[in-house]
Amino acid sequence: NKRYAVAIDGPSGAGKSTLAKAAAAELGILYVDTGAIYRTIGLYACRREADPHDLAAIITLLPDIQVSMAYGEDGLQRMLLNGEDVTDVIRRPEISRWASVVSAIPEVRAFLLEMQRELARSHSVVMDGRDIGTVVLPQAEVKIFLTASPEIRAQRRMKELEQRGTPQPYNQVLSDILQRDWADSHRETAPLRQAEDALLLDTSHLDFDQSREALLHMIKERI
Ligand code: C5P
Repeated sequence: NKRYAVAIDGPSGAGKSTLAKAAAAELGILYVDTGAIYRTIGLYACRREADPHDLAAIITLLPDIQVSMAYGEDGLQRMLLNGEDVTDVIRRPEISRWASVVSAIPEVRAFLLEMQRELARSHSVVMDGRDIGTVVLPQAEVKIFLTASPEIRAQRRMKELEQRGTPQPYNQVLSDILQRDWADSHRETAPLRQAEDALLLDTSHLDFDQSREALLHMIKERI
């Protein structure tokens, strides 16, 4: 059984994490949510009341941060920030914005790169993020660019926020999504883009089961 990696990139709200998690469970391999790692750094910056425009000051916080991941009995990834389990709090909308801020800083990306590569060296993985196929795992056996229209992504995100008990109006969710899309795809370091050898999966007109089937089909054809 040869080790392999599935890289899944795409904009926020495309359903990456739910689908990647389902695919990893089906394949019996590790699921790695890299957005959660950036969110953890974002949470730390937020708690330290950093100025989101003062990137140099954010960089000076890095030596104080120990990020690690643990896998629960349910096989799901938990995020630890200096030993504290922050898995749930990093999902808050203000932490999404902080994640986007810190993720544009090259020093932050460099700080996290080796941790992500090491996971893929030691396990077969389904890893999702923005730059997995382009930067983190350019040799991944399977690369998928998962997307959906901004409006559909906003609707899905609204439902998710409702279920988490933090509802937000549609216009707010859509404008957050458009703003994050723009920031993620226009930053200089590791911008969000489809790798040349990535397969495109647009889930705008697919429900969850159809998306999951399409994704698994793409993966199984290539491993
Ligand atoms: O995927 P998720 O929405 O949890 O990611 C939060 C933020 O982290 C993204 O908006 C993006 O700015 C950043 N990110 C990144 N590179 C990754 C994963 C996430 O820049 N590989």
